[in-house]
Amino acid sequence: MLADLAGIGRDPTTGGYRRHVWNDADMLLREWFVGEAAARGMDVVEDGNGNQLAWWGSPGPDALLTGSHLDSVPDGGAYDGPLGVVSSFAAIDRLRADGFTPSRPVVVGSFADEEGARFGIACAGSQLVTGALAADRALAQKDRDGLTMAEVMAARGRDPRAVGRADWLGDIGTFVELHVEQGRSLVHSGAPVGVATAIWPHGRWRLDFCGEANHAGATLMQDRHDPMQAYAATVLASRRLATEASARATFGRLEVEPGGTNAIPSRVRAWLDARASDDESLEHLVEQVVAEARAASDLDGTSVEVTAESVSPAVDFDVPLRDRLAELLDAPVLPTGAGHDAGVLSAHVPTAMLFVRNPTGVSHSPVEHADDGDCEAGVVALAAVMRELAS
Ligand code: GLV
Ligand code: MN
Ligand code: MN
Repeated sequence: MLADLAGIGRDPTTGGYRRHVWNDADMLLREWFVGEAAARGMDVVEDGNGNQLAWWGSPGPDALLTGSHLDSVPDGGAYDGPLGVVSSFAAIDRLRADGFTPSRPVVVGSFADEEGARFGIACAGSQLVTGALAADRALAQKDRDGLTMAEVMAARGRDPRAVGRADWLGDIGTFVELHVEQGRSLVHSGAPVGVATAIWPHGRWRLDFCGEANHAGATLMQDRHDPMQAYAATVLASRRLATEASARATFGRLEVEPGGTNAIPSRVRAWLDARASDDESLEHLVEQVVAEARAASDLDGTSVEVTAESVSPAVDFDVPLRDRLAELLDAPVLPTGAGHDAGVLSAHVPTAMLFVRNPTGVSHSPVEHADDGDCEAGVVALAAVMRELAS
């Protein structure tokens, strides 16, 4: 199944994936999902948010949900997301081959827009289902071409009025998401599969550094109101502050206006991704970075505006479920600094995650990898978990 997906949305120059919600690649992935479900006689329902659900048996209460997402970050890898969806179908195949019949409904989910690469909000599909993200706010988000989510959905034949809380959540009794590990804990543990304990709180803040456009040659250095200077100082400060706090701060996206080599910019728009071990530390880190940005702006007579675009609180996964699965699989437990739909749903239903070993730990990159043998071990583990929870 991963081989079938390999060509979809792949950039030929970098080898990375550009699978963003409602783009052409995303539409092909949706078709692929429907096809895999049909091949197994599973009915697919797409909710108003674009989340796809393939039911093994009739939809009903106390269902066991498994799955993940198919979208990617810009230039993402082949495993972050798809491994969880593929492994869910493969685990069902194993259970069926063994003649297993689940005692509760089982449903494979593919969540829309987990990475938030197009509209800026992480886990938009799952956050809309739970109500953590308001429909109005989501629909008004714009992509890089200035199109709103409402416009993009309508162009794909979806009804923007259907976006928002979804009834199916009330039918879910347990959620188990399998995911490639985005780190090297399992390499150090020598185990192919692990069970998640927690997700670090994390978020995205947009910093608009505003100054005054002027000539690069004719403007004295002391006469400039160049917002690039405060931006650069903020990046350097964020590294220091995050390092001191054993936290994370990343500026991975930048827009410069007007973007001329021989012009002082009028605006630098930068996105901060910040993460820390607890909510208070994250808040403190962001406050400190913003204070540095303001101080640096003041020096140049520029200004900075800060907008919180997406904030995800700390998640501690259900402890009895986690312990039960770790014992069943004889697997190590580990926390993660990456965000997941499982984190969003965990506030509503008992939720667990399985991680599959990643030999380099690299993720959100074309070189992200998991060995076939470990992927197979992930499927075996997920099948065992499904058998345990649906017997
Ligand atoms: C998603 O992978 C995230 O952690 O941003
Ligand atoms: Mn990801
Ligand atoms: Mn993911």
